[in-house]
Amino acid sequence: MKSTLIMAVALGGLLFTALAGAQMGGGMGPGMGQGMGRSMMGRGPEGVSIVRHRFVMANGIDKKYAGKRNPLALTDDNLRAGKALFDTNCVVCHGTSGKGDGPGAKGLNPAPADLTAAIAMPIAGNAYLDWTLSEGGVPVGSAMPPFKASLSEEDIWKLVLYLRSL
Ligand code: HEC
Repeated sequence: MKSTLIMAVALGGLLFTALAGAQMGGGMGPGMGQGMGRSMMGRGPEGVSIVRHRFVMANGIDKKYAGKRNPLALTDDNLRAGKALFDTNCVVCHGTSGKGDGPGAKGLNPAPADLTAAIAMPIAGNAYLDWTLSEGGVPVGSAMPPFKASLSEEDIWKLVLYLRSL
């Protein structure tokens, strides 16, 4: 009798945690992230950036980037260059395979996104990626650095090509 009750409470708690995690993403209160692991904070169930998706759904894409298209062709040279740029600038947080598990990811909230999942989302068009890489976490309040000062537009487009190949 007593153990059934305990089971029910435990199950309810689990379900609540799962739902809260799925719906609230980065907005979790202290304690609610327990059992999810710190590095997963702020990521959706698939590891995409909840804060960024929310921001774009609410505000659209920054006018400066909306409608942008990748001027570069998908060539081996561009992909190689994109990978080199990724290794230098992104791996520290997003990890070698883009899963969001680089050494610099520890303790970041929101956590670096799983780019292999992010890239498959309908929202991840060229304008979205150009804006994300150029402006970084500034508009959404994350630790991702803006790259528009340190990388050329062409470098950013090479990175976009590479991201799509992850
Ligand atoms: C200091 C750590 C850090 C570095 C370095 C970094 N990022 Fe991020 N990145 C994040 C974090 C944290 C997020 C999730 C919050 C957000 O969207 O800003 C993120 C999100 C993203 C997203 C959005 C994913 C989605 O779900 O929509 C993309 C795309 C991305 N990063 C690409 C890159 C690329 C490409 C580089 C290198 C040029 C890079 N990042 C460098 C921390 C980092």
